[in-house]
Amino acid sequence: MFTASSLTGNKAEQYAQLLQQARALMAGESDRVANAANLAALVYHALPDLNWVGFYFFDGVELVVGPFQGLPACVRIPLDKGVCGAAASTRQTQRIDDVHAFPGHIACDSASNSELVVPLVAADGSLLGVFDLDSPKHARFDADDQAGLEALAFALIQSLP
Ligand code: SME
Repeated sequence: MFTASSLTGNKAEQYAQLLQQARALMAGESDRVANAANLAALVYHALPDLNWVGFYFFDGVELVVGPFQGLPACVRIPLDKGVCGAAASTRQTQRIDDVHAFPGHIACDSASNSELVVPLVAADGSLLGVFDLDSPKHARFDADDQAGLEALAFALIQSLP
């Protein structure tokens, strides 16, 4: 049974601890659903002020919802729609302080006010999907969160075959 130890120190130190916990959870396992599910659960329960944490996987045409924590979400997102689509199509992390000001934002949970979406890109450059985090707080995510969550997303990519 996995028990998350509480995070200590400054934000960078906390993300380093979270990364260690994530690597431990995924060690020796390469199943995409298993690792994405545990990573979503780990992050959702470790970090404050989040109402949705999870994954959308690219099926070759659009993004399809994968393992997550939070309320039920929209199932399919075209690459030209929403914050997730923007992250996937530009392959750049989208850090949005106010989702209501983002053109085309898809409101899956009306409680969401800020959002961070990290694209998942394989070593060969192919798009795997996105790692999506929503918060009821405005401007919940800063540069330290972005760096920490990008490192966690990269750990998931590295765990895959
Ligand atoms: N808000 C996202 C959609 C996914 S949900 O937040 C879970 C978007 O605009 O792409």
